[in-house]
Amino acid sequence: MLTADQKRCFEDEGYIILPDFKSASEISTLKTRANAIAAAHDFTANKEVFSTDRQRGPQEDRVQDYFLKSANEIKCFFEEKAFDADGNLVQPLEQSINKIGHAMHDLDPVFSKFSHGDKLAELAADVGLNQTQIWQSMYIFKQPRIGGQVDWHQDTGFFYTTPQSVTTFWFAIDDATLENGCIWVEPGGHKSPLRQRFIRDGRQTKLLDLDNMPWPDKSSAIPVEVKAGTLICFNGMLPHYSAPNTSDKARHAYTLHVTDAACEYALENWIQRSKDFPVRGFV
Ligand code: FE2
Repeated sequence: MLTADQKRCFEDEGYIILPDFKSASEISTLKTRANAIAAAHDFTANKEVFSTDRQRGPQEDRVQDYFLKSANEIKCFFEEKAFDADGNLVQPLEQSINKIGHAMHDLDPVFSKFSHGDKLAELAADVGLNQTQIWQSMYIFKQPRIGGQVDWHQDTGFFYTTPQSVTTFWFAIDDATLENGCIWVEPGGHKSPLRQRFIRDGRQTKLLDLDNMPWPDKSSAIPVEVKAGTLICFNGMLPHYSAPNTSDKARHAYTLHVTDAACEYALENWIQRSKDFPVRGFV
């Protein structure tokens, strides 16, 4: 699928941009399904918020349990700014959800169809993944006006393997622009050290600092503005970030985090699978 030049680009820069990887109809089918899941969310019972800041410290037991269960289920998380001081939604429910995670790719037929197939397997092989294992799916809404920032991070820290193999498949469901919070990357930054690891110990999770190398800033990072249907595929070591969405336009995206079964998947990673729910690949 990839040309020799594209493969070299992935190796040198740590990412590749593939416009029109998904058709308009595939995109709209996924978006419709995601909106339906969000609209059906029982927000009176579950008001759990997701923000990258909150992953740093201890959370309430109830919130932590909800987060841990989401590893192998389908759960909705709210934007940090979804509620007013009285706990009421400031926007309609469908415009308040931050993300859906983290196992739709295996549990929901519409998401499963989008997340599997020969085309993805072929691309994965071209970027060095031969025996794929899809550990996580996330549908990120980046809602108009309240869509939260995602701090600089490297996905390897969440899906640690020896040797490193995690690769991220980031699908633009809407056009992603500077205005609505497109992703920023540091070209070549995948050659820098792993700064942090997110680990699980029983019911506790924590972010461990490994290396004090500073995160990129606007002098070395670039925004990746892409059209809906584009796939950005990147090395798990590539530092990336996205700004808050202060515009009136949503910036939906869908991501898959994939490793190679030939590499050892760490037991401390927060997502684990059991024999009755085994991890699967693209085919
Ligand atoms: Fe990420």
